[in-house]
Amino acid sequence: MTASSAPTSTPTASRHVAAPSHSPAGVVDIRPLPGPLGAEVIGLDLSQPPSAADFARIHRAHLDHHVLVFRDQRITPQQQVDFSRRFGPLQIHVLRNFQLAGHPEVLIISNIKEDGQPIGLGDAGHFWHSDLSYVERPSLGSMLHAQELPSEGGDTLFANQHLAWDTLPDALKKTVSDLRAEHHYLARYEELRARNPWRPKLTQAQIDEVKPVVHPVVRTHPENGRKALFVSEHFTTRIVGLPEDESRDLLAQLFAHTTQDALVYRHRWQPHDMVFWDNRAVTHLAAGTPDHLRRKLYRTTIEGSQPF
Ligand code: SIN
Repeated sequence: MTASSAPTSTPTASRHVAAPSHSPAGVVDIRPLPGPLGAEVIGLDLSQPPSAADFARIHRAHLDHHVLVFRDQRITPQQQVDFSRRFGPLQIHVLRNFQLAGHPEVLIISNIKEDGQPIGLGDAGHFWHSDLSYVERPSLGSMLHAQELPSEGGDTLFANQHLAWDTLPDALKKTVSDLRAEHHYLARYEELRARNPWRPKLTQAQIDEVKPVVHPVVRTHPENGRKALFVSEHFTTRIVGLPEDESRDLLAQLFAHTTQDALVYRHRWQPHDMVFWDNRAVTHLAAGTPDHLRRKLYRTTIEGSQPF
């Protein structure tokens, strides 16, 4: 499934934003982006720790809008790590060779090769996914900070999975409500490796680190209480308890529904953008970069809780 796939239906539910129980004073302004998700955070310099009031506003906005865009952030990797840690412990990606030197919590996402060797994970996000859905405690959210951007291409797409649930036809809601699905890091690894032979062959220790896990197909967000579909074409391999063909057909329907254009915000990167998304509420896709253009971003990934 790609970003340009035809919509399967038109969502009728509109974006839902919780009324704040209080309005903390602070300097930041939250400006919702047009469309099904996303907001820009104005007036914050992430090289300084935000005040308690600003942090509370950012936290609330993250739960309400699912993708936050902070423009023109001149921050170091350590400052990105420090800000990410305010939301929880950080997760280390199984592909250790793409860690930033001195910062194991930072994964380099890049198509750049130096001396013939890739400096980062060049095909991250090639299929729709939620980060680290293949572990027991998938990611709460991820932060991606632009280091070097191509003059064309390189966009990232985000699909609102709360709206995907809200707009699912009732019969399908009934079918999937109590189902569980398997997620596996290796689901498409060899397919990606065949296209990109620089992807390392995994050691047994790495394979053991990413054993398949099972999560509910419909999860309840632990902080905003809303339901969301939690399957993806990259990591979800099967619906537990269904015959293989039924499982495949149902997943194909869900993948088409969850990635339809009406649910999607397309982020067009600007220099020094920092984007912070909620992996419990959105899936994402890297739209691709022409091979001859350079793209480099730093990603931190915050641990979440076990889905229910
Ligand atoms: C990712 O999937 O984390 C990377 C997304 C991107 O490179 O746009």
